[in-house]
Amino acid sequence: MTGQHRVEIDTGKPHPARMYDWYLGGKDNYPVDEAMGRQMLTLDPRVPVMARVNRAFMHRATRWLARNGTRQFLDVGTGIPTEPNLHQIAQEVAPDARVVYCDNDPIVLAHAAALLRGAPEGATDYLQADVRDPDAILEGARKILDFDRPVALSLVALLHFVSDEDGAHDLVGRLLAELPSGSHLVMTHATADFTPEESRAATEKLKAAGVTLALRSREEFTRFFDGLDLIEPGVVVPHLWHPELGEPVAGQDDGVVPGYGAVARKP
Ligand SMILES: C[S@@+](CC[C@H](N)C(=O)[O-])C[C@H]1O[C@@H](n2cnc3c(N)ncnc32)[C@H](O)[C@@H]1O
Repeated sequence: MTGQHRVEIDTGKPHPARMYDWYLGGKDNYPVDEAMGRQMLTLDPRVPVMARVNRAFMHRATRWLARNGTRQFLDVGTGIPTEPNLHQIAQEVAPDARVVYCDNDPIVLAHAAALLRGAPEGATDYLQADVRDPDAILEGARKILDFDRPVALSLVALLHFVSDEDGAHDLVGRLLAELPSGSHLVMTHATADFTPEESRAATEKLKAAGVTLALRSREEFTRFFDGLDLIEPGVVVPHLWHPELGEPVAGQDDGVVPGYGAVARKP
Protein backbone atom coordinates (compact mmCIF):
# COMPACT_ATOMS: atom_id res chain seq x y z
CA MET A 1 0.00 0.00 0.00
CA THR A 2 1.26 3.45 -0.83
CA GLY A 3 0.57 6.88 0.66
CA GLN A 4 -0.04 5.38 4.09
CA HIS A 5 -1.09 7.65 6.92
CA ARG A 6 -2.03 7.09 10.53
CA VAL A 7 -5.70 6.07 10.47
CA GLU A 8 -7.90 8.47 12.43
CA ILE A 9 -11.62 7.82 12.04
CA ASP A 10 -13.89 10.83 12.66
CA THR A 11 -17.10 9.40 14.11
CA GLY A 12 -18.55 12.84 14.85
CA LYS A 13 -19.87 13.51 11.35
CA PRO A 14 -21.28 11.28 8.60
CA HIS A 15 -18.91 10.12 5.86
CA PRO A 16 -20.00 9.16 2.32
CA ALA A 17 -18.06 5.85 2.36
CA ARG A 18 -19.68 4.77 5.63
CA MET A 19 -23.18 5.92 4.66
CA TYR A 20 -22.84 3.97 1.42
CA ASP A 21 -21.73 0.94 3.44
CA TRP A 22 -24.84 1.34 5.60
CA TYR A 23 -27.10 1.54 2.51
CA LEU A 24 -25.49 -1.67 1.22
CA GLY A 25 -26.17 -3.43 4.52
CA GLY A 26 -22.51 -3.39 5.66
CA LYS A 27 -21.22 -3.19 9.22
CA ASP A 28 -18.43 -0.64 8.78
CA ASN A 29 -20.38 2.45 9.73
CA TYR A 30 -21.13 4.45 12.88
CA PRO A 31 -24.35 5.74 14.48
CA VAL A 32 -23.79 9.15 12.90
CA ASP A 33 -23.73 7.53 9.42
CA GLU A 34 -26.84 5.47 10.10
CA ALA A 35 -28.66 8.54 11.46
CA MET A 36 -27.91 10.55 8.31
CA GLY A 37 -28.70 7.51 6.14
CA ARG A 38 -32.12 7.27 7.80
CA GLN A 39 -32.73 10.97 7.13
CA MET A 40 -31.96 10.36 3.46
CA LEU A 41 -34.47 7.51 3.47
CA THR A 42 -37.21 9.83 4.70
CA LEU A 43 -36.57 11.95 1.58
CA ASP A 44 -36.34 8.96 -0.76
CA PRO A 45 -36.80 5.42 0.55
CA ARG A 46 -35.12 4.04 -2.56
CA VAL A 47 -31.61 5.19 -1.59
CA PRO A 48 -30.45 1.62 -0.73
CA VAL A 49 -31.73 0.46 -4.14
CA MET A 50 -29.73 3.26 -5.74
CA ALA A 51 -26.60 2.11 -3.89
CA ARG A 52 -27.05 -1.47 -5.10
CA VAL A 53 -27.86 -0.33 -8.66
CA ASN A 54 -24.69 1.74 -8.61
CA ARG A 55 -22.57 -1.15 -7.34
CA ALA A 56 -24.07 -3.45 -9.99
CA PHE A 57 -23.21 -0.89 -12.69
CA MET A 58 -19.56 -1.01 -11.54
CA HIS A 59 -19.62 -4.82 -11.83
CA ARG A 60 -21.05 -4.77 -15.37
CA ALA A 61 -18.81 -1.96 -16.63
CA THR A 62 -15.71 -3.71 -15.25
CA ARG A 63 -16.81 -7.01 -16.83
CA TRP A 64 -17.43 -5.28 -20.16
CA LEU A 65 -14.01 -3.62 -20.09
CA ALA A 66 -12.14 -6.78 -19.12
CA ARG A 67 -13.96 -8.79 -21.81
CA ASN A 68 -13.07 -6.10 -24.33
CA GLY A 69 -9.37 -6.19 -23.57
CA THR A 70 -8.75 -3.73 -20.71
CA ARG A 71 -6.05 -5.07 -18.39
CA GLN A 72 -5.42 -2.04 -16.16
CA PHE A 73 -7.88 -0.30 -13.84
CA LEU A 74 -7.51 2.85 -11.73
CA ASP A 75 -10.48 3.04 -9.36
CA VAL A 76 -10.75 6.33 -7.47
CA GLY A 77 -13.36 6.58 -4.71
CA THR A 78 -13.22 2.85 -4.04
CA GLY A 79 -15.32 2.73 -0.89
CA ILE A 80 -15.33 0.19 1.91
CA PRO A 81 -14.85 -3.30 0.43
CA THR A 82 -18.08 -5.03 -0.61
CA GLU A 83 -17.55 -8.29 -2.44
CA PRO A 84 -17.21 -8.75 -5.28
CA ASN A 85 -14.80 -5.83 -5.50
CA LEU A 86 -13.54 -4.43 -8.79
CA HIS A 87 -10.33 -6.51 -8.93
CA GLN A 88 -12.31 -9.71 -8.32
CA ILE A 89 -14.56 -8.99 -11.33
CA ALA A 90 -11.66 -7.93 -13.57
CA GLN A 91 -9.33 -10.77 -12.54
CA GLU A 92 -12.08 -13.35 -12.93
CA VAL A 93 -12.23 -12.42 -16.63
CA ALA A 94 -8.52 -11.63 -16.99
CA PRO A 95 -6.27 -13.01 -14.23
CA ASP A 96 -3.45 -10.72 -15.43
CA ALA A 97 -5.51 -7.55 -14.84
CA ARG A 98 -3.79 -4.92 -12.69
CA VAL A 99 -5.83 -2.72 -10.36
CA VAL A 100 -4.99 0.36 -8.29
CA TYR A 101 -7.59 1.47 -5.77
CA CYS A 102 -7.67 4.96 -4.30
CA ASP A 103 -9.79 6.75 -1.71
CA ASN A 104 -9.29 9.69 0.65
CA ASP A 105 -11.28 8.34 3.60
CA PRO A 106 -9.26 6.86 6.47
CA ILE A 107 -11.86 4.14 6.98
CA VAL A 108 -11.22 2.86 3.47
CA LEU A 109 -7.49 2.85 4.24
CA ALA A 110 -8.28 0.90 7.41
CA HIS A 111 -9.93 -1.78 5.24
CA ALA A 112 -7.32 -1.80 2.50
CA ALA A 113 -5.62 -4.95 3.78
CA ALA A 114 -8.95 -6.81 3.73
CA LEU A 115 -9.69 -5.43 0.26
CA LEU A 116 -6.39 -6.73 -1.09
CA ARG A 117 -6.41 -10.10 0.72
CA GLY A 118 -5.85 -12.90 -1.79
CA ALA A 119 -5.28 -10.48 -4.68
CA PRO A 120 -2.27 -11.29 -6.86
CA GLU A 121 0.74 -9.58 -5.28
CA GLY A 122 2.20 -6.75 -7.32
CA ALA A 123 -0.91 -6.57 -9.50
CA THR A 124 -3.33 -4.91 -7.08
CA ASP A 125 -2.61 -2.01 -4.77
CA TYR A 126 -4.29 0.64 -2.62
CA LEU A 127 -3.35 4.28 -2.63
CA GLN A 128 -4.53 6.79 -0.03
CA ALA A 129 -5.14 10.02 -1.95
CA ASP A 130 -7.72 12.64 -2.77
CA VAL A 131 -9.13 13.00 -6.29
CA ARG A 132 -8.54 16.74 -5.88
CA ASP A 133 -4.81 15.92 -5.97
CA PRO A 134 -4.58 14.13 -9.33
CA ASP A 135 -0.79 14.37 -9.44
CA ALA A 136 -0.50 12.28 -6.26
CA ILE A 137 -2.86 9.69 -7.77
CA LEU A 138 -0.95 9.53 -11.04
CA GLU A 139 2.40 9.23 -9.27
CA GLY A 140 1.15 6.42 -7.02
CA ALA A 141 -0.68 4.57 -9.80
CA ARG A 142 2.40 4.50 -12.02
CA LYS A 143 4.07 2.13 -9.54
CA ILE A 144 1.63 -0.61 -10.59
CA LEU A 145 0.17 0.52 -13.91
CA ASP A 146 1.96 1.01 -17.21
CA PHE A 147 0.70 4.32 -18.61
CA ASP A 148 1.88 3.35 -22.11
CA ARG A 149 -0.97 0.84 -22.18
CA PRO A 150 -4.73 1.59 -21.84
CA VAL A 151 -6.15 2.13 -18.37
CA ALA A 152 -9.80 2.22 -17.31
CA LEU A 153 -10.28 5.20 -15.01
CA SER A 154 -13.21 4.35 -12.78
CA LEU A 155 -14.88 7.25 -10.91
CA VAL A 156 -18.03 5.54 -9.77
CA ALA A 157 -20.35 7.51 -7.46
CA LEU A 158 -17.44 9.82 -6.65
CA LEU A 159 -17.70 13.18 -8.40
CA HIS A 160 -20.98 14.27 -6.82
CA PHE A 161 -18.79 14.73 -3.72
CA VAL A 162 -16.55 17.16 -5.61
CA SER A 163 -17.78 20.70 -6.23
CA ASP A 164 -17.32 22.88 -9.29
CA GLU A 165 -15.20 25.17 -7.08
CA ASP A 166 -12.82 22.23 -6.64
CA GLY A 167 -12.72 21.88 -10.42
CA ALA A 168 -14.43 18.50 -10.85
CA HIS A 169 -14.33 18.60 -14.67
CA ASP A 170 -10.70 19.75 -14.82
CA LEU A 171 -9.62 17.00 -12.41
CA VAL A 172 -11.03 14.33 -14.72
CA GLY A 173 -9.33 16.01 -17.67
CA ARG A 174 -6.01 16.04 -15.80
CA LEU A 175 -6.23 12.31 -15.00
CA LEU A 176 -7.29 11.39 -18.54
CA ALA A 177 -4.54 13.49 -20.11
CA GLU A 178 -1.94 11.05 -18.76
CA LEU A 179 -3.69 7.96 -20.12
CA PRO A 180 -3.05 6.68 -23.64
CA SER A 181 -5.47 6.18 -26.52
CA GLY A 182 -7.70 3.16 -25.89
CA SER A 183 -8.16 4.08 -22.21
CA HIS A 184 -11.69 4.40 -20.83
CA LEU A 185 -13.57 6.63 -18.41
CA VAL A 186 -16.22 4.89 -16.29
CA MET A 187 -18.58 7.05 -14.26
CA THR A 188 -21.82 7.18 -12.36
CA HIS A 189 -23.13 10.37 -10.79
CA ALA A 190 -26.20 11.42 -8.81
CA THR A 191 -28.52 14.02 -10.33
CA ALA A 192 -31.41 16.25 -9.28
CA ASP A 193 -32.96 15.97 -12.77
CA PHE A 194 -35.67 13.49 -11.78
CA THR A 195 -36.46 14.42 -8.17
CA PRO A 196 -35.53 18.13 -7.73
CA GLU A 197 -37.30 18.73 -4.40
CA GLU A 198 -35.97 15.63 -2.63
CA SER A 199 -32.52 16.25 -4.08
CA ARG A 200 -32.43 19.83 -2.85
CA ALA A 201 -33.47 18.73 0.64
CA ALA A 202 -30.84 15.96 0.65
CA THR A 203 -28.13 18.39 -0.47
CA GLU A 204 -29.03 20.80 2.32
CA LYS A 205 -29.12 18.14 5.03
CA LEU A 206 -25.74 16.79 3.97
CA LYS A 207 -24.26 20.28 3.75
CA ALA A 208 -25.41 21.02 7.29
CA ALA A 209 -23.56 17.86 8.37
CA GLY A 210 -20.40 18.91 6.52
CA VAL A 211 -20.77 16.70 3.42
CA THR A 212 -20.64 18.26 -0.07
CA LEU A 213 -23.18 16.93 -2.55
CA ALA A 214 -22.76 18.42 -6.03
CA LEU A 215 -25.64 16.99 -8.04
CA ARG A 216 -25.22 17.49 -11.78
CA SER A 217 -27.60 17.60 -14.70
CA ARG A 218 -27.41 15.22 -17.65
CA GLU A 219 -25.62 17.94 -19.63
CA GLU A 220 -23.06 18.56 -16.85
CA PHE A 221 -22.49 14.82 -16.48
CA THR A 222 -22.07 14.36 -20.24
CA ARG A 223 -19.45 17.11 -20.27
CA PHE A 224 -17.09 14.83 -18.29
CA PHE A 225 -16.87 12.77 -21.50
CA ASP A 226 -15.98 15.63 -23.86
CA GLY A 227 -13.42 14.45 -26.41
CA LEU A 228 -14.15 10.77 -25.69
CA ASP A 229 -16.23 8.26 -27.65
CA LEU A 230 -19.22 7.09 -25.61
CA ILE A 231 -19.75 3.34 -25.63
CA GLU A 232 -23.31 2.29 -26.50
CA PRO A 233 -25.87 2.93 -25.01
CA GLY A 234 -24.27 6.26 -24.03
CA VAL A 235 -25.47 8.23 -20.99
CA VAL A 236 -28.29 6.34 -19.28
CA VAL A 237 -29.71 5.68 -15.84
CA PRO A 238 -27.19 3.17 -14.46
CA HIS A 239 -29.30 0.00 -14.51
CA LEU A 240 -29.92 0.41 -18.26
CA TRP A 241 -26.20 0.19 -19.10
CA HIS A 242 -25.59 -3.29 -20.55
CA PRO A 243 -28.07 -5.08 -18.26
CA GLU A 244 -27.22 -8.38 -19.96
CA LEU A 245 -23.83 -8.40 -18.17
CA GLY A 246 -25.23 -8.96 -14.69
CA GLU A 247 -28.25 -9.76 -12.57
CA PRO A 248 -31.00 -7.16 -12.09
CA VAL A 249 -31.18 -5.44 -8.69
CA ALA A 250 -34.46 -5.93 -6.81
CA GLY A 251 -36.54 -2.74 -7.08
CA GLN A 252 -34.49 -1.15 -9.87
CA ASP A 253 -37.56 -0.70 -12.09
CA ASP A 254 -39.83 0.78 -9.39
CA GLY A 255 -39.37 4.41 -10.38
CA VAL A 256 -36.35 6.26 -11.70
CA VAL A 257 -32.97 5.89 -10.02
CA PRO A 258 -31.79 9.53 -9.96
CA GLY A 259 -28.37 9.11 -11.47
CA TYR A 260 -26.47 8.68 -14.72
CA GLY A 261 -23.86 6.19 -15.79
CA ALA A 262 -21.65 5.93 -18.86
CA VAL A 263 -18.42 4.47 -20.21
CA ALA A 264 -16.36 6.16 -22.92
CA ARG A 265 -13.14 5.42 -24.81
CA LYS A 266 -10.29 7.85 -25.31
CA PRO A 267 -9.64 8.00 -29.08
C1 LIG B 1 -20.56 6.30 -2.68
S1 LIG B 1 -18.95 5.69 -2.41
C2 LIG B 1 -18.67 4.80 -3.93
C3 LIG B 1 -17.82 3.55 -3.75
C4 LIG B 1 -17.58 2.75 -5.04
N1 LIG B 1 -16.93 3.57 -6.04
C5 LIG B 1 -18.86 2.21 -5.60
O1 LIG B 1 -19.42 2.87 -6.48
O2 LIG B 1 -19.33 1.16 -5.17
C6 LIG B 1 -17.96 7.15 -2.67
C7 LIG B 1 -16.52 7.01 -2.28
O3 LIG B 1 -15.80 8.17 -2.73
C8 LIG B 1 -14.88 8.51 -1.71
N2 LIG B 1 -14.53 9.94 -1.85
C9 LIG B 1 -15.32 11.02 -1.61
N3 LIG B 1 -14.65 12.14 -1.84
C10 LIG B 1 -13.41 11.77 -2.27
C11 LIG B 1 -12.24 12.51 -2.67
N4 LIG B 1 -12.24 13.85 -2.66
N5 LIG B 1 -11.14 11.81 -3.04
C12 LIG B 1 -11.15 10.45 -3.04
N6 LIG B 1 -12.22 9.71 -2.65
C13 LIG B 1 -13.33 10.37 -2.27
C14 LIG B 1 -15.59 8.21 -0.42
O4 LIG B 1 -14.69 8.07 0.65
C15 LIG B 1 -16.30 6.91 -0.78
O5 LIG B 1 -15.50 5.80 -0.48
